[in-house]
Amino acid sequence: MDLIARLDRREAVIGIFGLGYVGLPLMLRFAETGYPVRGFDIDPAKVEALNAGRSYIEHIPADAIAAARSQGFSATTDFSGVRECDALILCVPTPLNKCREPDLSYVIGTTEAIVPYLRAGQVVSLESTTWPGTTDEELRPRIASTGLSIGEDVFLVFSPEREDPGNPNFNTRTIPKLVGGVTPACLEAGKALYGQVIDQLVPLSSTRAAEMTKLLENIHRAVNVGLVNELKIVCDRMGIDIHEVIRAAATKPFGFTPYYPGPGLGGHCIPVDPFYLTWKAREYGVSTRFIELAGEVNTQMPEWVVGKVTDALNARGKAVKGSRILVLGIAYKKNVDDRRESPSIVLMELLQAKGAHISYSDPHVPRFLPMRKHRFDLQSVKLTPATLAQTDCVLLATDHDGFDYALIKDHAPLIVDTRGRYREPAPHIVKA
Ligand SMILES: NC(=O)c1ccc[n+]([C@@H]2O[C@H](COP(=O)([O-])OP(=O)(O)OC[C@H]3O[C@@H](n4cnc5c(N)ncnc54)[C@H](O)[C@@H]3O)[C@@H](O)[C@H]2O)c1
Repeated sequence: MDLIARLDRREAVIGIFGLGYVGLPLMLRFAETGYPVRGFDIDPAKVEALNAGRSYIEHIPADAIAAARSQGFSATTDFSGVRECDALILCVPTPLNKCREPDLSYVIGTTEAIVPYLRAGQVVSLESTTWPGTTDEELRPRIASTGLSIGEDVFLVFSPEREDPGNPNFNTRTIPKLVGGVTPACLEAGKALYGQVIDQLVPLSSTRAAEMTKLLENIHRAVNVGLVNELKIVCDRMGIDIHEVIRAAATKPFGFTPYYPGPGLGGHCIPVDPFYLTWKAREYGVSTRFIELAGEVNTQMPEWVVGKVTDALNARGKAVKGSRILVLGIAYKKNVDDRRESPSIVLMELLQAKGAHISYSDPHVPRFLPMRKHRFDLQSVKLTPATLAQTDCVLLATDHDGFDYALIKDHAPLIVDTRGRYREPAPHIVKA
């Protein structure tokens, strides 16, 4: 088919919808491979930044955007350009709504925005993490409503993103990519789409299997983190250091994978995605108890950490109310700038609600402006002997490598460490 020949020759025009943590690296990869790429986003600020050769994601350098620009990449909020594209790749958010149910409005909104411009000879690929059946039940009928035949005129695939921002060992090219097609011809189109840009493709028998595989990966993580978080509480009561135990267990050369406890789950994926399956499983009369239980344990972790902060201050004759608490790390995991669903923010809110004076330090987030769900407006505090000594408690929430841990240890009067960063016991360090 002509589409496959154009993809193979790297002539096919690639349209990426949603230029965030997933869409932007993917755009760069297609551009560096030599494909003409167009970016589509509903956020005019992102479009303007990209067209000016600027990056808004810390680990993506502006140089890379500028290089893509010089190869012809441009971004737009105008979806009429869909017609020029041979491939349409959807990388839009899939959050939960306030009742913790899947919010597919971005996926459906994007699909409905592209449908008026669809034409024969295009492949549509959904990359957003979602419940098994989404591509088939939500995208397929909307695309079919155009009269185009799926598997003959247009091709529909699900190929989930496996991006791990900040991971220096893997990148878009080297992470094997799952691809499922709605029909065998769709799968072939999907393989041609990604075959030139990704080292290894993993074809699946259906889009549902691909959707489920992505969920299994993230559920596996959420459940195991829930397990070690529960064991952390048990170990704390028993006077055992969970981190020492995990390090020791990880010396077993087979059958054990280390997961690390923390102050709660964070990020756009692990706290969210498992509940996409929980919701869909209900339609089949099945309950997902491991997922619910892990969610319960992980969600309670910030409260448990606040209890440890309260006890540590109390042991020093202080109340949380009126105490100056400096939170280290506002990003949800180390060495990145992503604050979405960060447990640090939950900790800050809980402590502020108890009357603490909250400040934070994060080398990756110089300014913490109000977000959709949070109203903080703070600036990152520079860590110096004086700023540390002025606190009543330093709460280590995210263990960025950029922190000077010796400085913190030498000058903070009290450290509550939720990451096991301080291995040696000290009278002013409390593990939480
Ligand atoms: N961030 C990760 O590490 C990661 C990893 C694997 C999978 N995912 C999944 O990938 C998907 C995207 O996540 P992300 O982290 O890139 O999100 P993001 O919020 O960083 O980016 C999404 C982008 O989509 C844009 N957008 C929203 N509606 C749109 C529309 N109708 N048309 C065009 N653009 C639109 C937003 O403005 C934003 O720029 C989610 O399903 C997520 O679960 C994310």
